[in-house]
Amino acid sequence: MTSPIRTERHDNVLVVISDNPPVNALGQAVRAGLKDAIEQALSDDSIEAVVIRCDGQTFFAGADITEFGKPPVGPNLPETLDAMEASDKPVVAAIHGTALGGGCEVALACHYRIAVPSAKLGLPEVKLGLIPGAAGTQRLPRLVGAEAALPLVVGGNPIPAKKAETIGLVDAIVAEDSLEADAIAFARSKIGQPVPRASEGKANEDGVRDPDLFDRFRASQARQIRGFDAPNAAIEAVKAAGELSYADGVKKERELFMKLMTGTQSAAMRHYFFAERAANKIDDIPRDTPLIPIRKVGVIGAGTMGGGITMNFLSAGIPVTILEMAQDALDRGTSVMRKNYENSAKRGRMTMEAVDKAMGLLTPTLSYDDLADCDLVIEAVYENMDVKKQVFAKLDSVVKQGAILASNTSYLDIDEIATATARPGYVVGMHFFSPANVMKLLEVVRGKETRHDVLATVMKLSKTIGKVAAVSGVCPGFIGNRMLSKRQEQANALIMEGANYWDVDDVLLEFGFPMGPFQMGDLAGIDIGWHRDPTKVTTIREALCAVGRFGQKAGKGFYDYDEARNRTPSDEVRAIIADFATKEGKAQREISKDEIRERLLYPMVNEGAKILEEGMAQRASDIDVVWINGYGWPLYTGGPMFWATTVGPDKVVAGLERHGLPVSDFLHNKAEAGRGFD
Ligand code: 3HC
Repeated sequence: MTSPIRTERHDNVLVVISDNPPVNALGQAVRAGLKDAIEQALSDDSIEAVVIRCDGQTFFAGADITEFGKPPVGPNLPETLDAMEASDKPVVAAIHGTALGGGCEVALACHYRIAVPSAKLGLPEVKLGLIPGAAGTQRLPRLVGAEAALPLVVGGNPIPAKKAETIGLVDAIVAEDSLEADAIAFARSKIGQPVPRASEGKANEDGVRDPDLFDRFRASQARQIRGFDAPNAAIEAVKAAGELSYADGVKKERELFMKLMTGTQSAAMRHYFFAERAANKIDDIPRDTPLIPIRKVGVIGAGTMGGGITMNFLSAGIPVTILEMAQDALDRGTSVMRKNYENSAKRGRMTMEAVDKAMGLLTPTLSYDDLADCDLVIEAVYENMDVKKQVFAKLDSVVKQGAILASNTSYLDIDEIATATARPGYVVGMHFFSPANVMKLLEVVRGKETRHDVLATVMKLSKTIGKVAAVSGVCPGFIGNRMLSKRQEQANALIMEGANYWDVDDVLLEFGFPMGPFQMGDLAGIDIGWHRDPTKVTTIREALCAVGRFGQKAGKGFYDYDEARNRTPSDEVRAIIADFATKEGKAQREISKDEIRERLLYPMVNEGAKILEEGMAQRASDIDVVWINGYGWPLYTGGPMFWATTVGPDKVVAGLERHGLPVSDFLHNKAEAGRGFD
């Protein structure tokens, strides 16, 4: 097999080039090739400097994640990088694309780093439940200081080359089209000078002078890192870089890295990494299916949903024509969008110039005729089949042939909606989650007649607008809401049987959800769908509305809220629930948190199994992608189906049976076969 590493001589400079598509991951052959190349450079007196660069779209994007969990084959990355750094001849990293994880660690082991302006550098290992494992946590703080290193190692978000230059991670920025030549010239200019080694840097002393730095940083990140193991380990490792010798710091990093690598959180997050990428692929649709160009989008409805959907396209530079029935609703929707953008600008997330640019792409209209030349129209109108059918019939008559007509419905039958048109092949579900400009998930609903090119286009478009997409078949509630309804059913039943509603919420919070079902109800508004007749009370929600407990916006719902929106359980609500239970003859008993957890989560797994059995999801991991991105299922458990595998399907079945809840054949079979969901 030919090595992915080749070398080219430029007089006294050896250029080492990696060609390992798609992302130049640092697999065994790459590591071996790099090590050999360094040895070649060191043993050849006519070579006085080395440049390391990559072919293709990017500099090394990290360790090869597919090798994780398999028996290691040498040379390992740390020893390869140590050999590189030990060289007395200057070694220069020439960076384009993304230098991530192990790739950033390669750059750190080089004596100098030069980059093109579009390059990004980062240590995203925390996103895989890990910390850098090739001395990144030890070299980086020594090079740039603990304060600058912490956000990189703990947050895991890459930074642009310019920012990297500001903190001292990059030595020079060069033109996009002359990286190699500039790197060679740079390397030559350093010949004969003592090489600077990151492992010998002193910048980490900022953390020694100000040891509280680490606690302050931890406190500032408390919300983002709640429940995750890796960020705390990352802080510990960076702290160790100030407290220990380099050799001991590296040992500490290795210990922390190995503990995380063998834990379930990292397994779950690695599962998710591949799950997200798999979810964008549709098994029976060839990858080279020609796409429908989407140059202009139409959105029907300028309410919260329609506005949020619109912003996704505007932010991606795609013009949108937005339609409403009345001028005041249109004006209101437009001004909310502008305000949202301006708030982002105030928080420094975008410039005012970008706000104007995005809003400049928006055309508000009251006329369907203005949608005629759109390539895609998404309706976000009232959830009612007759209304949707009228909208689709109208769209079919005005929008050009070959354009995609999409519905944002969260549970209606896309196939039935498609019958209102003469182009059912061009009808598809695009189910966004509120707030649609923020939430990552896009549930793409495949009708029985939806064409391949329509689906392929929507999947590609989801990436353009920064969404994570997963495909669902047509069934009530699709993947996400179908499973949510099972959880809600149990939440309601539990409080009627005597469980405290705040215990139900707390169980989910403790599991890692951002909030529980009753908090969620308060946030969304208890009065959604409320008939406004306090004399007709048939549900607990109606009883709460009847006494003005509409949710957070009213200062009270299931909970009482203070001005800072802190919640306290309410005696009034407890009495309302108890009253209901008595009326329905439900015996009250104390219910343990274990039972609450099992009854909330196991029926979701069972529903997920049914969704798979019916072919409504392509793969179990798509269900995980839906729940992590659309409903706040904690990433570090890998999503409901991966989590069920770690719990054991036999335990899930036993739990469901213990609580008298149904078990699908599919789940039974998994349990009997002793297998998880794959
Ligand atoms: N190892 C193995 N495969 C990888 C990989 C990696 N590090 N990074 C990406 N891939 C694969 C993807 O699975 C995908 O495969 P597919 O086509 O079969 O689905 C393919 O490469 C292309 O990836 P993307 O679809 O993500 O391509 P993009 O162009 O959208 O993004 C990227 C490119 C920004 C590099 C993105 O792939 C990415 O973020 N990769 C992961 C980076 C990372 O986490 N690095 C750290 C690894 S851990 C580490 O280095 C430990 C060290 O400290 C010891």
